[in-house]
Amino acid sequence: MAYNLLKGKKGIIFGALNESSIAWKTAEVIHAEGGEFVLTNAPIAMRMGEINALAEKCGAEVIPADATSMEDLENLISKSMETLGGKLDFILHSIGMSPNVRKGKDYGDLNYDWMLKTMDVSAISFHKVMQTAEKLDAMNEWGSIIALTYIAAQRTYPDYSDMAQAKAMLESIARSYGARFGEKKHVRVNTISQSPTMTTAGSGVGGFDVFLDFADKMSPLGNATAEECANYIAVMFSDFTRKVTMQNLMHDGGFSTSGITDRIVEQFNK
Ligand SMILES: NC(=O)c1ccc[n+]([C@@H]2O[C@H](COP(=O)([O-])OP(=O)(O)OC[C@H]3O[C@@H](n4cnc5c(N)ncnc54)[C@H](O)[C@@H]3O)[C@@H](O)[C@H]2O)c1
Repeated sequence: MAYNLLKGKKGIIFGALNESSIAWKTAEVIHAEGGEFVLTNAPIAMRMGEINALAEKCGAEVIPADATSMEDLENLISKSMETLGGKLDFILHSIGMSPNVRKGKDYGDLNYDWMLKTMDVSAISFHKVMQTAEKLDAMNEWGSIIALTYIAAQRTYPDYSDMAQAKAMLESIARSYGARFGEKKHVRVNTISQSPTMTTAGSGVGGFDVFLDFADKMSPLGNATAEECANYIAVMFSDFTRKVTMQNLMHDGGFSTSGITDRIVEQFNK
């Protein structure tokens, strides 16, 4: 059921790789809610070509950009304003990648060049996107910017490796840039901390099935799905959340504030 929540709103969605991507589901919800957007992803991810099917379905333009490249970002943001016929109301940063996780490096044996790459792709790119948007004066007043994060920024999870540090930095950037953008443009900046979700990035983390099951049993409402995350993002891009900023918003079925749950106790009693 759609509510026309985003009628007249324009924006950019980073990170729709395939149908299971959180950004993919978000594009579908924003489209259903009346929003218009440009889809973008790293040129290498475009080669798989799946994004074109989503673009067609949503009537969206696709503009490739490596989110670590200032040149690509300038091109993306200025072309998006041309394509959409005006400034932006929302940006979704749904990007994460760690070469150390991908290549199965142990946390006690990290490759530091790769770690820098993790930081650049998964955290600093968020600053780059916002700095570019500010310099190009691309955001409308009362716009909304969201990045996706994970609770490993606050608590340790084996196998999440250097992505934990990247998420901590990402959340910090949201607060610092949120303060600046709020004062200058009434633009709000938040992170949404999502339950573990079966996507390409998610399933790259070791032992993901067990992890997913544990989180589900540890959450009174169960894990939040990618579709539910998309709905939450749509609300955060709507005018109903104008004064929410510089927050790390937990979207996790209650996981983050649960000590133990009946379902976990049952599991251990088996
Ligand atoms: N899946 C989970 O369990 C989970 C939980 C919490 C938060 N998140 C976060 O949600 C976000 C989206 O991930 P997802 O789970 O939908 O997985 P996904 O693999 O579908 O999305 C990750 C995206 O990042 C893009 N990307 C990588 N390097 C890039 C670059 N240099 N420039 C531009 N784009 C680049 C990929 O192409 C891909 O589209 C990530 O920030 C992830 O950390 C995921």
